Amino acid sequence: MNLPVQDLQASLLGWFKSNKRELPWRHPTAGWYEIFLSEIILQQTQVSQGLPYYTKFTKRFPNIASLAKATEDEVLQMWAGLGYYSRARNLLKAARKITNEFNGQFPQTMKQALSLPGVGPYSAAAVLSIAFKQPFAVVDGNVLRVLSRLLLIKDDIRQTATRKKIQQLADELLDPAHPGDFNEAVMELGATICLPQNPLCSQCPLSTFCKSFSLNEQNTLPYKSPPPAKRQVKEYVCIIRRDNQYLLRQRPHKGLLARMWEFPTIAVSAFPWDEADIRREAELMCGFPLKIKTIGPAFTHVYSHIRLEYIPVFFSATSAEEPLPAQGQWVHREEMETLAIHRAHHKIEWK
Ligand code: ADE
Repeated sequence: MNLPVQDLQASLLGWFKSNKRELPWRHPTAGWYEIFLSEIILQQTQVSQGLPYYTKFTKRFPNIASLAKATEDEVLQMWAGLGYYSRARNLLKAARKITNEFNGQFPQTMKQALSLPGVGPYSAAAVLSIAFKQPFAVVDGNVLRVLSRLLLIKDDIRQTATRKKIQQLADELLDPAHPGDFNEAVMELGATICLPQNPLCSQCPLSTFCKSFSLNEQNTLPYKSPPPAKRQVKEYVCIIRRDNQYLLRQRPHKGLLARMWEFPTIAVSAFPWDEADIRREAELMCGFPLKIKTIGPAFTHVYSHIRLEYIPVFFSATSAEEPLPAQGQWVHREEMETLAIHRAHHKIEWK
């Protein structure tokens, strides 16, 4: 690789030792469970955002056995706000698999670790290296940025081939004597020094090794092609109230926001519809008469692949009829706090 690898490892590890952030999963008492939990939470999430969730989870579920006994609703509700809810569902499935099939211990081979739901090459390498000192290099967004700059890699980091190439280079750079610290050090460098914009090269322990720094190319790398366009979705969200109860439904068991709770929605291809049409469609959906109280204001909620625009419509139900089971159920307002209602609908002032 044309780099003094051992000098680079020594610089990086020396820097990490004196500059690392104090984080609960780095405490000497932290075991693989704390490390596993933190790595699942920190995927696609920054430390500052993930930390309160980590604290909440370890308080409620101090070990793998207690997590394995949780219900999915409870885990989803605690996860609300972090997004990418399949991570929460998989975390629970993985905890159950570890408890039932691996005797409550994190599996010790890469192949077995990858058999856990939601555990891909990144999390498997993170837990095996940090908790068990096994020599696997991690590649996340931070590592892609640090190595693209260090080694002047101009390929598109959105491409799988580029990620594979960077994984190989990370494996070559890894210090096999300190794989966990090395991995955390690269990620920490990416999070605190090798920033996406205006990296702090004057404070960087790797600046003397960095090919893009020597060519003043650090601000042009990494190269990431523009994302594909998001699907545009428009819907009316029906807040249907009967005394102190609201009509809620659970989303299907597969797909976007699987099994999360929400107010019923009417998908439309364009806004606005006439009030009479909205009411008729909502009545068709739940099977009893409704009155519209107010409409709006509109909200936008952006997911990784979808841009959702929605307009809340507030209805009062005049009938004592129960909704059809497929359309959802009446939920008391206090009980609503205990359901995992997805984030888009938290913007609605329904109370
Ligand atoms: N991001 C995800 N896991 C991390 C870790 N262990 N250290 C620093 N940043 C991280």
